[in-house]
Amino acid sequence: MNTLGPSLDTVRQRLASIGQDHVLAGAEALAPTELDALLAQIEALDTDRLPGWIDRYVRAEHTFEAPTDLEPAPCYPDDPASPRRPWDKGAARSAGEALLRAGKVACFTVAGGQGSRLGYDGPKGCYPVGAVSDKPLFQIFAEGVLATSRRFGAPLPWYIMTSPLNHDATIAFFRERDFFGLPESDVVFFPQGAMPSLEKDSGRMLMSAPGVIATNPDGHGGAVRALWESGAAADMQRRGVAHLSYFQVDNPLANVADPVFLGLHAGAKDSSAEFSSKMVAKTEPGEKVGVFCSAGGRVEVIEYSDLPADLAAQRLDDGSLRFNAGNIAIHAIGVPFIEKLATDAAFELPFHRAVKKVPHINPETGEKIEPGEPNAVKLERFIFDAIPLAGSSIVYETQRVEEFAPVKNAQGTDSVGSSKLIQTERAARWLEQGGVSVARTPEGAPDCVIEIGPLYALDAEQLASRTDLPKSVSPGERLLLDAE
Ligand code: UD1
Repeated sequence: MNTLGPSLDTVRQRLASIGQDHVLAGAEALAPTELDALLAQIEALDTDRLPGWIDRYVRAEHTFEAPTDLEPAPCYPDDPASPRRPWDKGAARSAGEALLRAGKVACFTVAGGQGSRLGYDGPKGCYPVGAVSDKPLFQIFAEGVLATSRRFGAPLPWYIMTSPLNHDATIAFFRERDFFGLPESDVVFFPQGAMPSLEKDSGRMLMSAPGVIATNPDGHGGAVRALWESGAAADMQRRGVAHLSYFQVDNPLANVADPVFLGLHAGAKDSSAEFSSKMVAKTEPGEKVGVFCSAGGRVEVIEYSDLPADLAAQRLDDGSLRFNAGNIAIHAIGVPFIEKLATDAAFELPFHRAVKKVPHINPETGEKIEPGEPNAVKLERFIFDAIPLAGSSIVYETQRVEEFAPVKNAQGTDSVGSSKLIQTERAARWLEQGGVSVARTPEGAPDCVIEIGPLYALDAEQLASRTDLPKSVSPGERLLLDAE
């Protein structure tokens, strides 16, 4: 019997008033624990607001229209001496280092996605990606966090957003590996929320099994609500954390806490220190990355699926793409801004709809339905929709080889294979800057496989200062430089 929440009758009346009581069609036949689970699932979904969302995102025709005044977003160029926009990189670095030394920074990884494109069942962060070591993504980040915390002599808490589907498996993975040497109290896990998957034509919630509503994770933008409601944001405030270094679980080259970027975000005159971003130049018009644009004086990301093809293909006189600021999903976020996003209705992130095939059952008969065509709308929020809500948001250019080697697909572009090639290229460049000769093919690619563990060196300067570097890397060699 459900003794805590509202009674079945009360919930039924509430759902009937919004045309969603079909989810309780077989409720009387459920075992008491199953009924409790269903009522708890309904409580966790924001059913009061569902009709409004269905009108806005399911029933309404939804086409994206690019703003007419769309321009490329201004950015801080990677080269601070660039005539495009000279700036003081040294001052930004010092400011960022001071924040890290004062313990005012935490890392934040969104790891709730389902990794379905990769064809991998477990949490994506457990996927082996290290070029030589096959270390999992989580281990590479954990070592980066530990090395950064040691470098600045201050705690660097790490918040990890999971999903209800991978939360327990993620925690078990860290436990089994002793948190990779991090203090357990400095690693905070919390699950993101879920949205009901809605029938495309009617907006009715679909059922995945008797007594179970079909749901999908609410997108990385769900982080705002999850950070707030889980108590993670309060935990940050307690620890005196003022800025988050945000990155996605799929990018092993993400610099977990880059002092230059953090310093710019917190201190640049044109930054409100609320939400800043890193970009890399796009490789081609169709590359599947969002693009930083500016409209009405505000920065925003236009997703790759939305940027009109003619704009994506426009080129400048020097041949480069006009809209070339690719979003690598590395951001710096002010903690007070999270509070604003989570609590002020005027700052609520919108939803995006994706039409997908969702297997389900007929709640009246229990019959299983495998749709042949996309039948459902999934609603997701995107974290980068917070950018235009910030007072003033800056974009900082970085080099692709330094910071972007995502693992998204099983094969080809953005696969573990392409990521390992970029990891090796970065390692080769760092070694060459340190005076080590690296075997390269006549075309210039490394003729070897190299991996540099974060605990061995966090960047090219730290690597060059080591006294135990090899003299050279030979053709065909597989070299792992890692902490003892
Ligand atoms: C994303 C960005 C794109 C950017 C690219 C860079 C979106 C919509 N687009 O594309 O602008 O150029 O990365 O690599 O994000 N995640 C959650 N919970 C969710 C959904 C996703 O935690 O509910 C996490 C995933 O674990 C992953 C990340 O968000 O780490 C990216 O999600 P994904 O759907 O793979 O985005 P992309 O299409 O690759």
